Amino acid sequence: MEREFTYTKADFEQVRQRVYQMAGISLAPSKDQLVYSRLVRRLRSLRLRDFPSYFLYLDKHPEEAEHFVNALTTNLTSFFREEHHFEYLAQYLREQHKPGRNWRIWCSAASTGEEPYSIAMTLAETFGRFDVPVQLIASDIDTKVLSTAREGIYPEARLESVSTERRKAFFLRGKQSNAGKVRVVKELRQMIEFRQINLLDQNWGLGNALDIIFCRNVMIYFDKPTQHKVLERMAKLLPEHGRFFAGHSESFVHANDVVRLIGRTIYKPVRK
Ligand SMILES: C[S@@+](CC[C@H](N)C(=O)[O-])C[C@H]1O[C@@H](n2cnc3c(N)ncnc32)[C@H](O)[C@@H]1O
Repeated sequence: MEREFTYTKADFEQVRQRVYQMAGISLAPSKDQLVYSRLVRRLRSLRLRDFPSYFLYLDKHPEEAEHFVNALTTNLTSFFREEHHFEYLAQYLREQHKPGRNWRIWCSAASTGEEPYSIAMTLAETFGRFDVPVQLIASDIDTKVLSTAREGIYPEARLESVSTERRKAFFLRGKQSNAGKVRVVKELRQMIEFRQINLLDQNWGLGNALDIIFCRNVMIYFDKPTQHKVLERMAKLLPEHGRFFAGHSESFVHANDVVRLIGRTIYKPVRK
């Protein structure tokens, strides 16, 4: 294939090692073309002549790491993806909530925001108001997707999986130059604290215990030792009644010393 930049196996190997170290992401050998197409834009905009020059640039400019990681993450998501988790969450809170009780929920791979907003809609419906007794923290490593999430503006087509009632209650339709777009209502946006957190970071800065962790469709990019390490630390943040939600294709039965499966991709922490 004719390419704008020379791209060798060694270049791909460099990218693999670096993104593994920075974000825990294990790129399969079959991703070599994808890596090229994602990074070529960086080379172009920095006016670099080849990949080795880009690696040197990365070493000399620590701020480029953010662009490098942003370019290599996969951010696929949707509103109410794996809807059974949101039904479970509503039922769980209805059963467990007592007046005066406060909850903490962490959505740890929030991507462009559809997942934390689905959680926020579920909370608003369950408590019947926007001012809910829940601290909802949504994070991602990727700063670009986080800024989309904070804005809460989406093409209307993204609402395919959202009911008419929810569209009316939680979204505003754009007019004139914003036609075809929707924006999450301010009250819902204000329910969420968005933060950048790398799951590999030694300190997530989340303070005391959490009640529920959504960690869906991110661990699939990590190898088993990394999954185990992250899971172990997450489980420590959860009390006995805590819940951990995983993605549809993720299984943590290999980590049954840390979490135990109690429902469809729903786990509870194991107390040792
Ligand atoms: C496929 S999306 C999943 C989004 C959402 N959780 C869902 O299930 O629809 C994976 C997300 O994980 C994020 N991610 C990848 N590595 C990460 C890391 N080391 N720390 C935090 N987030 C990471 C990516 O930026 C991406 O937004």
